[in-house]
Amino acid sequence: MDYLNINKDAWDKRAKLHVDSKFYDVEAFKAGKSSLNIVELEQVGNVTGKSLLHLQCHFGQDTMSLARQGARVTGVDLSTEAIEQANKLKSALGLQATFIAKDIYQFGQESTEKFDIVFTSYGVLCWLPDLDKWARTIASSLVTGGEFHLVEFHTFNDLLSGYSYFPQSEPDIEDEGTYTENCDGTKSTMVTWAHSLSEVITALISAGLTIEHFKEYPYSPYKCFEGLEYIPELGYQMLHKGQQVPLLYAIKARK
Ligand SMILES: C[S@@+](CC[C@H](N)C(=O)[O-])C[C@H]1O[C@@H](n2cnc3c(N)ncnc32)[C@H](O)[C@@H]1O
Repeated sequence: MDYLNINKDAWDKRAKLHVDSKFYDVEAFKAGKSSLNIVELEQVGNVTGKSLLHLQCHFGQDTMSLARQGARVTGVDLSTEAIEQANKLKSALGLQATFIAKDIYQFGQESTEKFDIVFTSYGVLCWLPDLDKWARTIASSLVTGGEFHLVEFHTFNDLLSGYSYFPQSEPDIEDEGTYTENCDGTKSTMVTWAHSLSEVITALISAGLTIEHFKEYPYSPYKCFEGLEYIPELGYQMLHKGQQVPLLYAIKARK
């Protein structure tokens, strides 16, 4: 199964809709608003003068927010449409950034460049079949002493929505629309893989990285799942039998 082309096609369609969505709010971004949330801002800290690789950067708002904070940024994404939109936005705003349309595994095999920071966030791991390969891509892209930052949706939420928590031999293949409010009902086939927390952590350790920080959160900045309620100043939460469900986690690791 050609999962890369199937997912590329889906993300090309999504990227076209996303640039016009309130969810991504490009107008606010153009006016100077950072697209980054407090979780990653606090974790990544000062990026001034640092070289930064953003894996699965979508159409680049987070990448360019990091550029506005002083980082020298490179964003990689499978979707040619997302990278085209990122380059348009970059030119319109006169920002410095390099965007590369490529599968991250292929990027890892071909690139010889080393970065001070590798960053990736929110809805990235489920598109990748092999987390050992993902972690080796991160390790080979970092300078010695360089930092890796991941902020990801918690797979516990997927479990409560009926998906597997533990990895399975076969991926989930489903027809879906998108999570932005301007979803036009068009569905695309998508191929995804479940990844447990232990799988993520073990992959990073096996690639030679040292985990320095791991935190789970009961609030998400994004309303992109069913059953979330907004709690002012904290974000969206989900209750299961009256108890908060973990919605995000963040990992910092060092090479
Ligand atoms: C949910 S988005 C990332 C979210 C991002 N934080 C944002 O909202 O701007 C997932 C991204 O992963 C990309 N992607 C999926 N599979 C990929 C792969 N194998 N290599 C590189 N990018 C991939 C998709 O094209 C999409 O842009």
